[in-house]
Parts: sequence; C-alpha cells; structure tokens
Amino acid sequence: MERDFIRQGLIHSGKANNVYATNYPDYLELESSDRILAGNGAKRDIILGKGVLNNKISSTIFKYLEENGIPTHFVCEGSNEASKIVRAAQMIPLEVICRLYAAGSFSKRYGLEGKKFSEPLIEYTYKSDLYGDPIIDRKTILAIPEKTLIKNERELNLIDYYTARTGLLLSKFYYELGIKLVDFKVEYGRISSDQIVLCDEISPDTCRLIDIETGEILDKDLFRKDLGDVGKGYSKVLRRITKKEK
Ligand code: TMP
Repeated sequence: MERDFIRQGLIHSGKANNVYATNYPDYLELESSDRILAGNGAKRDIILGKGVLNNKISSTIFKYLEENGIPTHFVCEGSNEASKIVRAAQMIPLEVICRLYAAGSFSKRYGLEGKKFSEPLIEYTYKSDLYGDPIIDRKTILAIPEKTLIKNERELNLIDYYTARTGLLLSKFYYELGIKLVDFKVEYGRISSDQIVLCDEISPDTCRLIDIETGEILDKDLFRKDLGDVGKGYSKVLRRITKKEK
C-alpha cells in the first residue's frame, strides 16, 4: 500500500529519538537523534551524524527481521535520512535484553565475561524513570499488568520467542559481516489489542558489537567507557551492512 506520508508536529522527544505525527493518525515518523546518553543520563553528548547512521542500520535490520517472520512497526523510509515511518503502537514499558555472551551488567553481577550462552538468555527491566528502570522477573511482570501492560503468559512467551529468534537472526546477520553480536535490547508495542510487534530501534546504541578479527568495539561502549571515536565505530557497522547489500 503506497501512501504519501507528510510529517506533522513533534509528539514526543525521548532520550535518543523524536516522534512526529503524520497526516495518517495510525502512522508516526520516528527520527533518530544525534543525542547520546549513558548511566541513565549522567553522561551525555551529541555525536554529529549518529542519527543518520542509527536510522540506516536500524531500518535495514527491521526489514531483515520482517523478511524472517518477526512482525515490526517499520513501514518505510521517512522524510529525511535519520527517520522512518512506523505504525503507531502502545509501547509496552519493558526493556527486553537478550544476551548471547556474558558482558556488561550481567558480568558485573556474576562475572563470566565472554561466556557463550547455549541459547539466547533473556532478561527484562521495567521502564520507569521514577523507579530507575529496575530489573523485573517474569512472575512480577505478570503480577502487575496495570504497570507492565502484559495481559497473560502467552503474550510474554511470544515476546520471549520473538526476542530469542531476533537474537539468532541478528547473530547470523552480523557474523556474516565479521562482527560478533554480544547482546542487545529490544522493545515491543501493541498495534491492536492482540497484536504485539517489535518497536523502537536496533542500532549500535542498543547492541554490543565487536569486530571478530580485531576485537575492536563498534557500539555505544565506545561512549560509555571512553574507548574511542563513536561515529567511526558506528560508520564501520553501516559500511559493512551497505557493502553486503550491494
Ligand atoms: P547491560 O549489560 O548494560 O544490561 O546491557 C545489555 C544490552 O542492552 C547492551 O547491548 C546495551 C543494551 N541496553 C540498552 O540499549 N538500553 C538500556 O537501557 C539497557 C539497560 C541496555
């Protein structure tokens, strides 16, 4: 279905993205910004061009996932290089984290940095500025539907299934580019009462990515830990994706 989407007013300015209305009420324009934050906003900066890099990487990944059976909110490119058109969704306030290897906050809790998991390991945090995005377990998610917006176990199982499958698909996608996917975060939303789809973005802001040959870090850890040029790392990821597509 071809439509002429026209960007309208800003609805929401999030930590890393801006959301605009369009001329169709069920569709939004999601723009990746150059803003970068870490440590719940304790560290922040602007990386010029990051929004374009993230949007291009994320759009390619969402198309790839759709082609492989994961329903997403992605519709088409937006009005500029940093934006895409998406289905409007009621966001589920969970960050769903998928780990292929132990790293980051997992290793802070349990050690075992670099351990490969036999299957994608899924954790959740409850998105809440008020409560500081606490880790939340399955039983708690299901016990407080008025907060988590998850209605039953079947929905949570579906989210787990989509996330684990996304982990396996993305690992393969990145492996073919010479990049190891260590872990990532995804979010989901509801486009109708019984239809949950993958939302938001999947980019070097939301994944840990390591060059298999050189061990070079290519993701937001460059910013979190002051390890080097953020734009350069993200550009390498996009360059390899673009080369593969040709
Ligand atoms: P963690 O090791 O800090 O828990 O992060 C795991 C992965 O999830 C890592 O790739 C970064 C990503 N992530 C986000 O994108 N946003 C978040 O708010 C959190 C907690 C993690």
